Amino acid sequence: MLDARGTAVPRLIHWGSDLGAVEPESLAQLVDAGRAIAPSSPDTPLSPSLLASSAEGFSGYPVLIARRTGFPAARLPLRIHRTVLTHDDTAISVELVADDDHGPLLTITWRAVLSPEGVLTIGLDARAEAPDGVDLHRLAAAVPVPARATELLDFTGLWAGERRPQRGTVRDGLHLREQRRGRPGHDAPYLTVAGTPGFGFRSGEVWALHHAFSGNSATGVEALPTGHRRLLAAELLEPGEVVLEPGGTYTAPEVVLAWSDRGLDGLSERFHPFVRALSPSAHRPVVLNTWEAVYFDHDLDRLLPLVEAAADLGVERFVLDDGWFQGRTDDRRALGDWTVDPQRWPAGLHPLADAVVARGMEFGLWVEPEMVSPDSRLAREHPEWMLADTTADAEAHHPPTWRFQHTLDITIPAARIHVLEALSALLDEYPIAFLKWDHNRDQHAGSAAAHTRALYALIDDLRARHPQVAIESCASGGGRVDLGIARRVHRFWTSDTNDALDRQRIQRYSGLLMPPELLGGHVGAPRAHITGRRHELSFRLATALFGSAGIEWDITGASDDDRAVLRDWVATVKRFRGLLTTGRSVRTDEATDDRYVHALVAPDGSEALVSLATLATPAVAIPAPLRLPGLDADRRYRVQPVTLGAPAHAVQDAPPAWIAAGGTTVSGALLAELGLPVPLLGPEQALVLHAVALD
Ligand code: GLA
Repeated sequence: MLDARGTAVPRLIHWGSDLGAVEPESLAQLVDAGRAIAPSSPDTPLSPSLLASSAEGFSGYPVLIARRTGFPAARLPLRIHRTVLTHDDTAISVELVADDDHGPLLTITWRAVLSPEGVLTIGLDARAEAPDGVDLHRLAAAVPVPARATELLDFTGLWAGERRPQRGTVRDGLHLREQRRGRPGHDAPYLTVAGTPGFGFRSGEVWALHHAFSGNSATGVEALPTGHRRLLAAELLEPGEVVLEPGGTYTAPEVVLAWSDRGLDGLSERFHPFVRALSPSAHRPVVLNTWEAVYFDHDLDRLLPLVEAAADLGVERFVLDDGWFQGRTDDRRALGDWTVDPQRWPAGLHPLADAVVARGMEFGLWVEPEMVSPDSRLAREHPEWMLADTTADAEAHHPPTWRFQHTLDITIPAARIHVLEALSALLDEYPIAFLKWDHNRDQHAGSAAAHTRALYALIDDLRARHPQVAIESCASGGGRVDLGIARRVHRFWTSDTNDALDRQRIQRYSGLLMPPELLGGHVGAPRAHITGRRHELSFRLATALFGSAGIEWDITGASDDDRAVLRDWVATVKRFRGLLTTGRSVRTDEATDDRYVHALVAPDGSEALVSLATLATPAVAIPAPLRLPGLDADRRYRVQPVTLGAPAHAVQDAPPAWIAAGGTTVSGALLAELGLPVPLLGPEQALVLHAVALD
């Protein structure tokens, strides 16, 4: 709800619960009553506008910083006034003109669109009005949250450990997360949530913000002693990074917001259908990826049996990971040389791709188009395409290599076209249905703003030429999981770790924003390659089931028993695919953080797939019953265990009778309130259940 009276800059008064029919007069009284004059403050009532700045007596984080090009000091706009406002039931657009002391500086357009699911998207544009152009340093979206939003949740992380939640109190000041990686990063804030004290998955009122962008960003929460508190997000622009010619326009990345009065699950209930609708395709085949199976050991004789084994299990997409292109014998070389290595692939990829297609699977290929190895033909031919800053004596200053590679400067049109043509040639020659698009370093030179836009243009151009190709966004695992790239890609590689215990947490929190079927989850080898930890197959299967399921393991060496279990599991993934790709996520708040309950409930409440995963040795001898909210209270459900290999290991003499009997029938209300008795599972075990409504 905007207060757009007069020609002043409108103020966002409310976003969140539906206020129903509102009397304009009583609303005006309430809103104006909120505009008291605080002690020791400006003598006019203070209530931050959409573009609050010192010009209106506001001392908080400025959302607009710009200066007239050629003028020495950064000048905050002296005056911002509204020129146009349009709206309908779901969208509002406001045009504002910002003046400095020489006249009009920028025309800003602020737009908000409310989706049917209740996701609010805010977009901002700035057009330069100054005749010399404008140096734009910041254009942020800021939205108020009420005083009762005293608790903060956002995320950090690291390679193979993405999306670690961090919680605390919203304190006075600015909690600002500046990401300067040229990608959101493993430590991306991801979702910034302010909520009422103690909010959880099923309870509390929460306001959440996601910056829908794959480049540098600043996101956070600001609380001022006046009582004002706001969620904020902006592209992080370095000084001089965006210089607009007269009439030139900067489009800020969108900011995506949701509110819920039913905790974090209520947020997912809005985000998931929203993301599902913007994702370019709903096709979610079961994958086998070769990375942890063979690494760089690309040899047809080794890979053909893997193709056979994959097909035999019912796998639907076979993805050849890193190591196939010219000279790529390890990770120290060859990025940029996107032609098939003639030594290891004398007949090209044809024998492999043909075998994959002949076995009824899609063929997928790994690429890292935005990168170049110094040791590559491309770098030797075009050293100027390796992203560098230029020193005073015109020497290229390269930042340190990272995984022995530099960023390719795809803001140089010739470099971008080169990559586009190279990828296009591969897609023309081979029956490639899927590209795993990787990005394995931070960007430490050049403009991340320009690079990110060039990346989007590159993907858009490639997809326009090859609309059938699906793309996975990977950045050393889950370093680029955001809603800017989500419009362009079909899957995310959630994390490089296939350790099922770590995956439980990573998927749980990645799944707040992204629906599970977009988050790649693979069954790895018995001993996780990254952590060295061992897990039983059943736990690995249960974990990968609740994602975009795949296998990343040399299954040619797996036992016949394990392969039979895998085959059943692939059939299970297919059996539940409808539920897995449309279900509503339900998670519970447990007394202790040593077990996770996650369910996908059919939109019509007719069935649910439920996972109970234990993360540690149980702390009580009789586990708390498995309570499952989210089903229809009045319906009766038949609940049965889903077999995924050997039963989960339980530390007791006999399981609850209903498990021994193979199932039970119980109402949705009882499931939600009393819950089902469950076995005393050992650590790192999972029980998967299927509930089907009988009426
Ligand atoms: C990155 C990815 C991995 C794998 C390797 C290949 O680390 O995240 O999944 O593709 O690159 O080099």
